[in-house]
Amino acid sequence: MSDEAERNADSEGVTTGEALAAAERRLASAGVESPRVDAELLAGKALGATRTALYTDPGRELSAEEAAELGRLVERRAAREPLAYVLGEWGFRRLTLAVDRRVLVPRPETEVVVERCLELLRGLEAPTVLDVGTGSGAIALAIADEHPGARVTAIDVSSGALEVARANALAGGLDVDFEQYDVRDGLEGAFDLVVSNPPYVTAEEIEALEPEVRDWEPRIATVGEEHTAVIAQAASRALVPDGHLVLEVADGRAAEVCALLRRLGYGDVRNVRDLTGRDRVVEGRWSSAR
Ligand SMILES: C[S@@+](CC[C@H](N)C(=O)[O-])C[C@H]1O[C@@H](n2cnc3c(N)ncnc32)[C@H](O)[C@@H]1O
Repeated sequence: MSDEAERNADSEGVTTGEALAAAERRLASAGVESPRVDAELLAGKALGATRTALYTDPGRELSAEEAAELGRLVERRAAREPLAYVLGEWGFRRLTLAVDRRVLVPRPETEVVVERCLELLRGLEAPTVLDVGTGSGAIALAIADEHPGARVTAIDVSSGALEVARANALAGGLDVDFEQYDVRDGLEGAFDLVVSNPPYVTAEEIEALEPEVRDWEPRIATVGEEHTAVIAQAASRALVPDGHLVLEVADGRAAEVCALLRRLGYGDVRNVRDLTGRDRVVEGRWSSAR
């Protein structure tokens, strides 16, 4: 245990309010972007309390075990481990997904990807869907959850990610067919929709990103320059006529990916803004006539 963690563990007798303030200071000094919110969520986990309860009873004294647990969680976060890994779970649309170092933390922009998929699948009673690079299972599971007739297959090259995704499916009572597969070996099938949030950060870009991404999230999930093109090409052999491809793209690369899809023969190519107004989703329709 580090000196700081030991000091935290010694904080038996401190009140919730004092523990929160100390945790916030520690996280701020470690450069965490939102130290107060993180401190509240970590305290909530350590004390088994909601954030509201922390405020309604700020004078409640922590037991030795609670203080030690909070100290451990705060030190993990101060080492810039992503909040989601420290909490062990993260919200994605209507789901709460288990997450750890084997998978990318699901992002808000990926919720927009799911939104587009649901829109494109609307009116199809039992559409077939393929999620390429499923990670925690976020996209596949959210589609299965929100379009109950959908028959969803999800692939990932990482066996660790698939373990997490399968556990999330089981926990959520959702039926998705998971398979370990490398998309570079090509795709085949007759899917109504192929969706992917592929690795799209360059090897140079990753070094400039925040420690949470650079040092903790799996490189296989973040770094990849050719994946978008490989998936767009492979999907054309796996889509039914008029089936759709939906891709999450890097900030600033939507126009490039739209041009790629057009070159490959996709029609109705367009990009969709995320919640902050950035073009982060590109979609196209595959027509066998092209
Ligand atoms: C950016 S993460 C997306 C995870 C999840 N779909 C999400 O949106 O939160 C990319 C995923 O693609 C997987 N992946 C990387 N290379 C792959 C490949 N060649 N074939 C299949 N999956 C791959 C990674 O293991 C990782 O889980």
